[in-house]
Amino acid sequence: MIFEYAAAPESRSVVKIDPVYGHFINGKWVNGSSHFNSINPATEEVLSQIALGTAADVDAAVKAARNAFDKSWSKLSGRERGKYLFRIARIMQERAREFAVLETLDNGKPIRESRDVDVPLSAAHFFYHAGWADKLEYAGVDTTTAPHGVVGQIIPWNFPLLMLAWKVAPALATGNTVVLKPAETTSLTALLFAQVCQQAGLPDGVVNIVTGDGSTGSAIVNHPGIDKIAFTGSTEVGKLIARAVAPTNKSLTLELGGKGANIVFGDAAIDETVEGIVNGIFFNQGHVCCAGSRLILQESIADEVLEKLKRRMDKIRVGDPLDKNTDLGAINSAEQLAKIRELTAAGEAEGAGRWSANCELPTNGFWFAPTIFTGVTQAHRIAREEIFGPVLSVLTFRTPAEAIEKANNTPFGLSAGIWSEKGSNILWATQQLRAGVIWANTFNKFDPASPFGGYKESGWGREGGRHGLSAYLKGSAK
Ligand code: NAI
Ligand code: MG
Repeated sequence: MIFEYAAAPESRSVVKIDPVYGHFINGKWVNGSSHFNSINPATEEVLSQIALGTAADVDAAVKAARNAFDKSWSKLSGRERGKYLFRIARIMQERAREFAVLETLDNGKPIRESRDVDVPLSAAHFFYHAGWADKLEYAGVDTTTAPHGVVGQIIPWNFPLLMLAWKVAPALATGNTVVLKPAETTSLTALLFAQVCQQAGLPDGVVNIVTGDGSTGSAIVNHPGIDKIAFTGSTEVGKLIARAVAPTNKSLTLELGGKGANIVFGDAAIDETVEGIVNGIFFNQGHVCCAGSRLILQESIADEVLEKLKRRMDKIRVGDPLDKNTDLGAINSAEQLAKIRELTAAGEAEGAGRWSANCELPTNGFWFAPTIFTGVTQAHRIAREEIFGPVLSVLTFRTPAEAIEKANNTPFGLSAGIWSEKGSNILWATQQLRAGVIWANTFNKFDPASPFGGYKESGWGREGGRHGLSAYLKGSAK
């Protein structure tokens, strides 16, 4: 007998979405001059109209941030700054449900993830950094403890609130003020966060949020009044930003793409490993920079792992992101879906074997079934390019040296995973892998105390932990 899950939708009545939003500048709402839609990618319903920030809007936000830095924020003791951060963290916890439902509506990710991962981790980042605010002298940073001043922050759409927290919490803890731009498809939780800043009584101008697209981001990057840029997004835009910032005195951190290798040795515990593979690539629809998107299997266990993996993938529940049973939600945008389709078509054309889970996809909205490609070679585009979707490329190896050679054969270097029951195997492999984060017998585990960042085209600098604090202090490398 097969039991089916009854629908268990989370109520959306907890959120109030305005029909039109402006920018949040100097503690006030400022009307935008033109607007674009933010839609729910699971239904294509228009949720709200978001202001398209102009260079003038960015200029007003930078002036407000400078004024707040000079007049209020830089004059406060670390202890006082910490109080504001603690207050923000507590309000985020109190309003957690509102944040989770709004994130799911605007982004398409399952409520189970926004509720259990995005929102609690966002609050945790504020709590963690609140604790550092009055202890910077003891943090052992390799920089001064003086803030840069005004920081411009540009974030992507895959973890909208969490990436805001990764950026805003360390900036404020170290005494900087902020101009932040959320991604164009997912501005709503940043705008709710602006309300939290007001609720926390944060001095005007310490956090400014200007919504918009790449042109707005570019206005932030090129504004002469900004002292540091922090960016998370595509490697392509990261390179543009690096070029724009190179001839200036601005500091820069970049957190870019990845093509994480998830290596399974012959002695791994297979059932656990299969769960880890699923979590590594299907968490957040695979819209994860550190996703384990290249599975590198030892030949001796490859058939068994693939058979169990396919059986497990057929059980992934795809559909309504607000349903508490849903595992895999909607693809964030039509553009991203087109990119996934283009790369998977290339995978087939280049001769890899495609297999997709047997699931029914909703008719409205943007959806992609969990998919794996076997027989992938290192030359295939699906082995080299970031797909940023629920698509796994499977390669095999015979010797450990071959596994490492394949894992490192990428322009990226953000994350890697190792599955083995043998500690010495794990220690040996971690020393050979060129990746900023390496998980052993687990995947996609995040903690504010743990620095995160990449090598090569995955970016510059680290976020989180003590290393992440240095990036917001004068004397940082770039
Ligand atoms: P994107 O890099 O264009 O967007 C990220 C942010 O940068 C957004 O806020 C965007 O408005 C802003 N932006 C765009 N052009 C800019 C410019 N010239 N100057 C300053 N800011 C600019 O990423 P997109 O187009 O949304 O996604 C394309 C691909 O990038 C994805 O398919 C994925 O492979 C990768 N990506 C990787 C992310 C990661 O976390 N590593 C996050 C988002 C995308
Ligand atoms: Mg949206």
